[in-house]
Amino acid sequence: MENTQTVKVEIPEQQGYSYPIIIGENLLNQIGKLAKNYTKAQKLLVITNKTVYPLYGEQVKASLEGANFEIDFVILEDGEKYKNITSLQTIWQRAIEFKLERKDAVIALGGGVIGDMAGFAAATYLRGIDFIQVPTTLLAQVDSSVGGKVAINHELGKNLIGNFYQPKFVLTDTLTLKTLTVEELKVGLAEVLKYAFIEKSCFCHLNTQSFIEYLKENKDAIFALNPDIIQKLVKYCCELKAAVVNKDEKESDIRAILNFGHTAGHAIEKCSRYDNINHGQAISIGMKGALHISRAKRLIDENYYKYCLALLDLYKLDYKIPNSIAPEAIYQAMFNDKKILSGKFRFILSTGKSEVGIFSDVDKETILESIKIL
Ligand code: NAD
Ligand code: GLY
Repeated sequence: MENTQTVKVEIPEQQGYSYPIIIGENLLNQIGKLAKNYTKAQKLLVITNKTVYPLYGEQVKASLEGANFEIDFVILEDGEKYKNITSLQTIWQRAIEFKLERKDAVIALGGGVIGDMAGFAAATYLRGIDFIQVPTTLLAQVDSSVGGKVAINHELGKNLIGNFYQPKFVLTDTLTLKTLTVEELKVGLAEVLKYAFIEKSCFCHLNTQSFIEYLKENKDAIFALNPDIIQKLVKYCCELKAAVVNKDEKESDIRAILNFGHTAGHAIEKCSRYDNINHGQAISIGMKGALHISRAKRLIDENYYKYCLALLDLYKLDYKIPNSIAPEAIYQAMFNDKKILSGKFRFILSTGKSEVGIFSDVDKETILESIKIL
């Protein structure tokens, strides 16, 4: 297709399975043609929500019907608090009523919440049917639609019930970012900054400068959604993630680095009952905590600590833990994190110059101290 860029995600753990992430503007009307190329489905069940459907539902429907698919939509409530077993039951129920067969497919049209839930539904319905990701938030385009993690939340912890389930392809139309609020754009930017802090550990680099410097230089163009800059940004983040997933699909080791800032972040989300603080805000706070611990353990010096905090400030990712959440509650919630191994935390900490390592020797006092400053 013209004016598109493609990133290939390769999964050696699945006998060389690979799939493309197709990135460009005005691509939603190509979904029918692409679905024909990448699946044998006759019926497609599109999972979306009450915010995204009125914006993009008709466009997707027209393209799929134009390619002669039989389609149905599940339009869920909007929000992280609906990323649960009840929504999943709704999807399964509709899939059964619509008589989706094993060769058919599920499409996720929306942000990370829809992508994670629709993917888990596809992974479990009839023991797994084809799945297509159409991410419409920046967070979903740079992160959640790539790499096959699918899940729902449990009241005791974030994303605790899930699977690894790779899509057939990812269709990323960057024009959909235009309808996001600035606050939702910032959620995605939090994950973008995460890549900048871990860049060198992802086996990738930009030719000219570090990703941190690139983000410093291009902040205004990024917030203005300059098409060239945004596509370059989305593509590079996908390349970084694809490189890590290629090495370790199931997070037995290196993939854990993609969770920089997420140990505290997920605990904060859990303590807020997935309601008054969103994922990007929580991981922005979590990244500050991880940098604080990295400095306390002398893995990074004061200059690098301030250099990273300055980038978070530049992007106005200056959130605080709500006063209603006690540091001890966050500490306890961390024990339900999936990165726990043999009962010990595994923290992703900065070692400087956009590199990170995985550490399990962080004591309670240091953790609580870092939470208290957040
Ligand atoms: P989200 O899916 O809740 O979307 C944010 C908001 O934007 C919602 O209100 C949504 O309806 C709205 N929206 C979506 N597209 C829109 C558009 N184009 N225009 C206007 N509004 C739009 O949240 P998110 O930030 O996209 O994703 C967060 C979720 O992703 C979390 O549940 C997190 O755990 C998950 N996640 C998963 C992975 C993974 O690897 N699977 C990685 C990172 C995050
Ligand atoms: N967002 C973390 C991962 O995909 O592994």
